[in-house]
Amino acid sequence: MKHTKVKDLLNSTTTLHEVNAKGWVRTFRNNQFIALNDGSTINNIQCVVDFENTPEETLKRITTGAAVSVTGSLVESKGAGQKYEIQVSKLEILGDSDAEKFPMQPKKHSLEFLRENAHLRVRTNAFGAIMRVRSVLSFAVHQYFQEKGFVYVNTPIITGSDAEGAGEMFKVTALPFDNTPRTEDGKVDYKKDFFGKETNLTVSGQLEGETFAMALGQIYTFGPTFRAENSNTSRHLAEFWMIEPEVAFNDLDDNMDLAEDFIQYVIKYVLDKCPEDLKFLEGRLLEEEKSKPQAERSEMALLEKLNFVLENNFKRVSYTEAIEILRNCTPNKKKKFSYIIDEWGADLQSEHERYLVEKHFKCPVILFDYPANIKAFYMRLNEDGKTVRAMDILFPGIGEIVGGSEREERYDVLIKKMKALEIDEEELSWYLDTRRFGSATHAGFGLGFERLVLFVTGMTNIRDVIPFPRTPGNAEF
Ligand code: 4AD
Ligand code: MG
Repeated sequence: MKHTKVKDLLNSTTTLHEVNAKGWVRTFRNNQFIALNDGSTINNIQCVVDFENTPEETLKRITTGAAVSVTGSLVESKGAGQKYEIQVSKLEILGDSDAEKFPMQPKKHSLEFLRENAHLRVRTNAFGAIMRVRSVLSFAVHQYFQEKGFVYVNTPIITGSDAEGAGEMFKVTALPFDNTPRTEDGKVDYKKDFFGKETNLTVSGQLEGETFAMALGQIYTFGPTFRAENSNTSRHLAEFWMIEPEVAFNDLDDNMDLAEDFIQYVIKYVLDKCPEDLKFLEGRLLEEEKSKPQAERSEMALLEKLNFVLENNFKRVSYTEAIEILRNCTPNKKKKFSYIIDEWGADLQSEHERYLVEKHFKCPVILFDYPANIKAFYMRLNEDGKTVRAMDILFPGIGEIVGGSEREERYDVLIKKMKALEIDEEELSWYLDTRRFGSATHAGFGLGFERLVLFVTGMTNIRDVIPFPRTPGNAEF
């Protein structure tokens, strides 16, 4: 007999004579009631075991974490909180679990403990919910762009270029560490390496994405991204997923419109598709916030916050205006910020971004027209000669969630910038071709997928929204 998903059983419109369910025991009460979960939904199905006719030996093996198969009839439940339950006629233990040793006990565990058990934490309610929401969100990303006729591009993971110019790259090499081949001047001889040149893991698919946008019009990437920055924060991963749309003939305003519409679409999509998981996560967050001082608690519950983002336009503010606000704000004057904002040109830290979003504007903010020298080389220079057509989208509780820009499409301006930053023209000659042959205005952005998942699930540490986080000093599993 084929097994039916717990979700489908709980959503059944009638009682059923014989059904089979397979899953893992969450709890077993009174030698009679199994709470069975198979991951299809946050909800467990109650399975009532006929303990009088079940051998003692079998009953003993129904422990938290065990995999079981239950066959029986789906009947209306007398217990509260569930419409149906399974009256078990046949019970099979598929895989035992040592209840004493099983790390996922039916009690509250700390998130730190769960991180150390990332291979098992997905068996908890919270992580099951987070990972289902993550999956639905990633489908929504594809659905949004596909509906709009964007072409999905798989940009390379191994590349020779440093798109962001920040030098935070993991090297990819097949050279030996002992007896590394050297050139005459003692440098590593990458000509002898696998690719015959120096290569690294990609920090962004943007540059390759741009070449496709200049042919296919509207494209997006959605893939893993790697950064060897030593940032041990709750918002940085060494391996994360990024979505990068790039659109020919779009300017910065079009770019902002696209980013805002896109984010609202995917949030709406999960609100529609994952009501139970989000409800659970909202409850989890409320519980967690109880332990925080009043001032640090968020003013809105999770669902209210998500709806707020859907219903309100993002506030668009220039970098120059933002600096004025920050210079004159109380935490800056009272030196409460770790980095004091004195003058125009300062790079914004997450504390400043969060002040703008959470305290000043109290809504998502798009900052644009940043100083050229704190942004990447490919951003379009404004007429003032000192700012670029950059945009960052800032979210409450997160800070920067999107970074993007209108691109410098003028060959001569771009080349000048690259020379000033000592970027190898030879190495990026293929990129420069997009400016040599049929160049046009275009724009795009990158959304950090895990930061979006953080926002949607109300979790506070990015390590808790990716299955197996990679951070400095941590590549377990
Ligand atoms: O602002 P970033 O560095 O922009 C780019 O990479 C551009 N090439 C994007 C583009 O225009 N196509 O990164 C984009 C986003 C950030 O806003 C942030 O959400 C996320 O990627 N991000 C990270 N997420 C997790 N861990 C990290 N270490 C991240 N670094 C960036
Ligand atoms: Mg950025």
